[in-house]
Amino acid sequence: MRGSAHMLYVFIGLAVILLVVDRSQGDPRSQIISLTCQRQLENNDTTFIPNFVESVEKIVTQIRTSHGGTAVTDGTYVLAECFGDLSTDDCYACNTKARANLPTCFPNKGAQIFLDGCFMRTQDYNFFQEYRGSNDTAICGNITSSRVFEDSVRETISDVVRVAPKKKHYFARDAILSDTANESVYVLADCWDTLNESSCTECLNSAFESMVKCFPWSEGRALHTGCFIRYSNTEFLNPKPTRGKNVGKTVALVISVCVIAILLLASVIICYAWKRRSKLKREQGSDDTNLLELVKSSSLNFKYSTIEKATRYFSEANKLGQGGFGSVYKGVLQDGREVAVKRLFFNHRHRAADFYNEVNIISSVDHPNLVKLVGFSCLGPDSILIYEYLPNKSLDQFIFDAVKGKELNWEKRFDIIVGTAEGLVYLHENSKTRIIHRDIKAANILLDSGLHAKIADFGLARSYEEDKNHISTGIAGTLGYMAPEYIVHGQLTEKVDVYSFGVLILEMVTGKPNRTIYTSDDTRNLLSIVWEHFKNGSVEELFDPNLMLHNDADDNIKKDIQSVVHIGFLCTQEIPSLRPTMSMALQMLSNNIKPLPYPTNPPFIYQNDLQFKDFSAAYASVSTVSHSSFDPR
Ligand SMILES: *[C@@H]1O[C@H](CO)[C@@H](O)[C@H](O)[C@H]1NC(C)=O
Ligand SMILES: *[C@@H]1O[C@H](CO)[C@@H](O)[C@H](O)[C@H]1NC(C)=O
Ligand SMILES: *[C@@H]1O[C@H](CO)[C@@H](O)[C@H](O)[C@H]1NC(C)=O
Ligand SMILES: *[C@@H]1O[C@H](CO)[C@@H](O)[C@H](O)[C@H]1NC(C)=O
Ligand SMILES: *[C@@H]1O[C@H](CO)[C@@H](O)[C@H](O)[C@H]1NC(C)=O
Repeated sequence: MRGSAHMLYVFIGLAVILLVVDRSQGDPRSQIISLTCQRQLENNDTTFIPNFVESVEKIVTQIRTSHGGTAVTDGTYVLAECFGDLSTDDCYACNTKARANLPTCFPNKGAQIFLDGCFMRTQDYNFFQEYRGSNDTAICGNITSSRVFEDSVRETISDVVRVAPKKKHYFARDAILSDTANESVYVLADCWDTLNESSCTECLNSAFESMVKCFPWSEGRALHTGCFIRYSNTEFLNPKPTRGKNVGKTVALVISVCVIAILLLASVIICYAWKRRSKLKREQGSDDTNLLELVKSSSLNFKYSTIEKATRYFSEANKLGQGGFGSVYKGVLQDGREVAVKRLFFNHRHRAADFYNEVNIISSVDHPNLVKLVGFSCLGPDSILIYEYLPNKSLDQFIFDAVKGKELNWEKRFDIIVGTAEGLVYLHENSKTRIIHRDIKAANILLDSGLHAKIADFGLARSYEEDKNHISTGIAGTLGYMAPEYIVHGQLTEKVDVYSFGVLILEMVTGKPNRTIYTSDDTRNLLSIVWEHFKNGSVEELFDPNLMLHNDADDNIKKDIQSVVHIGFLCTQEIPSLRPTMSMALQMLSNNIKPLPYPTNPPFIYQNDLQFKDFSAAYASVSTVSHSSFDPR
């Protein structure tokens, strides 16, 4: 009996895999061929990331209709293009990879990425009509082929280059099949839609010229400013969409009948299997049970269409804001519940099971200082997370605002600092899963009706762990809050959150964001300015006037604030091991640790070249500094 139950699981597992995979037929060809970063540096980091993200969002909506697109946001130009043989779903998948990797060039002014299925470029000027450049090049394979092959490649490419400029989306493909297995020729040529016919022709001609140097290799790709050509002796093109509407319809009908039948069968089997399963002893960790879990998960899973309705099709009017991970919309569910719907910048369809596991972890987290996850959706065109809705806005909209800042006096701010610390302690020391937030900042601290802190977006970064390049997830982290060891070495520990928390404290006391301030002879940030005053004992001069401290009566409060600043600097020390853990920081805030040790210096980041003053010196001195009082272990 046990064996047959297992067989059923395997069968259901396969059915689920088929259903999930079936959503994206074809191959998005999302392997990266080349990523080029321009050397010039972007000096103004405050605008680059949000502009880029906003442009990318505009393009994502164009992809559904036109296979690519362009967008301009406040001087940030972005162009995306999928090669013509990709289906819309595959285009989406390829573009997802492109837009996740392009920001690895940050903080450069421009970047372009060629994948095997798509292209993407961003600049700080209008480049949409450009079709040639000094970096135009070809990348060749390394397996030699025959003379016959070379001739048919030459012929095929010249055909394709001739017809592509006249075709829709400037895309043409061709194949010459040979009897000799490895001597067939497959060719693709594509210009960006923004070119006119004559510049497309010129681009393809020069791409053809640079491609000639790949002969007689069996594979070649021309990467040009306005176009792409590839030839190969192996089939890489996606099958053409089936022609003939009747045939298509019949096939579709047959498939849907089959799918429905499978679904019915599967649900019957699932019920049966679950009944049996509850009697059987639990066995751990096998893949098929995970997939069953996935099927079973209906309580958190929302249909994409439900979310579309709740947010009135993601209407601009419902948009609450935009962050590194995507946009947030207000939604009203059918039962009247108000929710915040987060449409993610990354799509998880290809890793639905992973995403599901992450969501489960996030949803199991329950603490008064953490925003509650209501549900998710990962099988639609966008990955979505649904949170409880908080009518008050985020902390940054209070403390950095001269008027609204008055609503938060010191007592309230201190309550928010402690609440944030408690939420972080819970995340870091949660017995089930340790969660590092990675993006603690004022914009991620929401305030409930009583103006208590609720941390948003926790756990989200975990789902990008797969993306090993830490800088690319840096689009999520926010430069002013990111710990130096994380930016430079990608080292991720809880101490990264402790650092951001320290920055947050200093912002709440001064009412100023930790942006980089450029002057003619120096580059400074809030941290370095407050640090100077802290050392001189004059930190009081920087207190936010909105704290409303009144002369003499408040001397005790001033002392309290000074010691909170002190804790802020303990949290932002350059060397991670010297920073307290969150639970120690919490104890310090509740006055349980006295006297506070004197902090070592915070890092001073020169963001235009990502250098750290004293950085190497600080690391060299690690061994000589005693940090026993800070390391609980
Ligand atoms: C060409 O590529 C190099 C890096 O490979 C980059 O520094 C340079 O800016 C690029 N030039 C143009 C015109 O894009
Ligand atoms: C950076 O951009 C912001 C917003 O556009 C602007 O206020 C600020 O002056 C800029 N800083 C520099 C150094 O250009
Ligand atoms: C095509 O575009 C190029 C580049 O923008 C321009 O120089 C050229 O005049 C255009 N040709 C036609 C026929 O519009
Ligand atoms: C061809 O290139 C691949 C990938 O770079 C490499 O693994 C392989 O060894 C090369 N083969 C030859 C014959 O050079
Ligand atoms: C196909 O294989 C044969 C034998 O290995 C080789 O001589 C020929 O160059 C190959 N052709 C191509 C196009 O790779």
